[in-house]
Amino acid sequence: MEESKKFLYSAVQPTNNLTIGNYIGAIRNWTMLQNDYNCYFAIANMHAITVRQTPAVLRQRTLSLLALYLACGVDPEKCTLYLQSHVPAHAELCWVLNTFTYVGEMERMTQFKDKSARHAENINMGLMDYPVLMAADILLYQADVVPVGLDQRQHVEIARDIAQRFNNAYSPTFKVPEALYMKVGAKINDLQDPAKKMSKSGENPNGSVFLSDDRDTIIRKFRRAVTDSDLEIRYDPETKPGVSNLLSIYSVFSGKTVEEAAAEFSGKGYGDFKAAVGEVVADRLAPIQAQQQKLLADKPYLDGVLKKGADGAAYAANKTLSKVYKKIGFYQL
Ligand code: TYM
Repeated sequence: MEESKKFLYSAVQPTNNLTIGNYIGAIRNWTMLQNDYNCYFAIANMHAITVRQTPAVLRQRTLSLLALYLACGVDPEKCTLYLQSHVPAHAELCWVLNTFTYVGEMERMTQFKDKSARHAENINMGLMDYPVLMAADILLYQADVVPVGLDQRQHVEIARDIAQRFNNAYSPTFKVPEALYMKVGAKINDLQDPAKKMSKSGENPNGSVFLSDDRDTIIRKFRRAVTDSDLEIRYDPETKPGVSNLLSIYSVFSGKTVEEAAAEFSGKGYGDFKAAVGEVVADRLAPIQAQQQKLLADKPYLDGVLKKGADGAAYAANKTLSKVYKKIGFYQL
């Protein structure tokens, strides 16, 4: 940890198959930020169980997500990579923060409302408490910035509110974190319904491109992507959401700006454009997929990364937790 650097925190849940939205909105950015910040990156398995999981699958997806972080270039020598459930301080701080959070504000959270509608048979307390656990994640590490996609905006806002509430009730204890959104790709949309976010759990599998999809599948999904009828390739999310979404994806995977991408395809047909986007995504994902599989074959190495990460994370987290316990009057030995 370099004291001169600011602190950064982010996490992904090991649920369903990750999409290129998760890559573009989150993991890819981590690799660009890891040199400039002291970074903590977690696998949020405690958040994952707010929706029923099959235990063996959850275990397998945990390692698979760690291997993906590494295959994308997140460097365990520079960052702390760890599994949320390995650091008990998350659950402990969550409990304290629960007493600084109002039921009404949790009921109003968009994601809670969406997930309650989708899992009407299992609206458990964890689902409702999810943002408080996320606040505990972030606040434990005194994070300055939290790079996330736009769908997490409300959750980072509530983490800020809770931090301020606690600081005002006692004395400055938590850093108040800022969300960090990337200019391009903070919201990648569904290929079949460009008004909607591309999601791990989307109903139409053709709308989401999964990081595990093979080349043919990726190219086929882009070929079928919904665009519009005016046949002009330009970036205008308001009136041309489908084409603009494809331009954002192309821009990120090709390393070109959205303007350069639009210029490259100006005058070309949608067919050629969609094929080119599919090609560049498939080309870029192939080496990541190969490296992920290679890493998954080396379980002792992955376990070593998690062990080192858990030690580093617990050290930082316990420092904050101990301050909190002191302030709220928990008798300490
Ligand atoms: P999760 O697992 O749903 O998503 C992981 C990250 O991917 C981003 N993302 C997207 N970005 C752009 N376009 C999309 N279509 C898209 N879909 C997903 C998300 O914004 C997120 O950055 N609650 C979090 C995990 C979490 C967390 C945290 C994040 C737990 N604790 C503390 C930050 C800090 C979640 O469910 O992300």
